Amino acid sequence: MKHISILTGAGISAESGVKTFRDHDGLWEGHDVMQVATPQAFEKNPSLVLDFYNKRRQQLLAVQPNLAHQRLVDLETKFKVDIITQNVDDLHERAGSSQVTHLHGELMKVRSTFDHHLIYNWKKDLNLGDFCEHHHQLRPHVVWFGEAVPMMEKAIDILKQTDLLIIIGTSMQVYPAAGLIDFAPSSTPIYFIDPNPSISESTDVHIYAEKATTGVDKLVRKLLA
Ligand code: APR
Repeated sequence: MKHISILTGAGISAESGVKTFRDHDGLWEGHDVMQVATPQAFEKNPSLVLDFYNKRRQQLLAVQPNLAHQRLVDLETKFKVDIITQNVDDLHERAGSSQVTHLHGELMKVRSTFDHHLIYNWKKDLNLGDFCEHHHQLRPHVVWFGEAVPMMEKAIDILKQTDLLIIIGTSMQVYPAAGLIDFAPSSTPIYFIDPNPSISESTDVHIYAEKATTGVDKLVRKLLA
């Protein structure tokens, strides 16, 4: 069975109503991401950071997967499919994809500031005073700027074994995620779906310069034909 790897970014969730990071003057829902997505920010102003992620979590509960998430699930009828996402939303899972690796963590989970192995599912707001079982503050289970990306090794292993790579809705500006593309075997066909693609067409790279919903639908039809 052919193995397809799919790297997704904020653009795949844009049509569900979740804003991307870099399409709005670097501001995300009115915040400079560096003011809310760093360990230093959490140390300096934990309430602001928790409030920011609480709003993101509330928003996520109010939106649904879109056609792009859904059509990727259909690929599993014919291929072994691994999704590697930079997104902290759970829209791939809710659409029904079975193998999803979250490079930057998961908004619907929190973890202990004392022991990072203590991870809990979390749907409500997270506040100061919400503790793990060892009575230490909980924090969002997301990877902040400057923090290690523990899922990189798994993602690299997936990429090394891929027959085809699909990249959807990412500006490819954030490392190490953007560097993953280099781990696919040389001359692996790459399909890049993004209305504002950051890499150019070449022998192995096929660009669909359009929104995820239409681009993914077209590509999935082609691959399943
Ligand atoms: N369909 C597909 N792509 C879209 C759509 C759409 N409807 N709308 C916008 N895009 C594209 C933009 O053209 C852009 O290339 O989505 C991309 C979004 O880029 P970013 O906002 O930089 O998001 P992403 O690449 O996922 O960011 C990576 O940065 O802040 C961190 O941790 C955060 O995971 C995030 C990482």
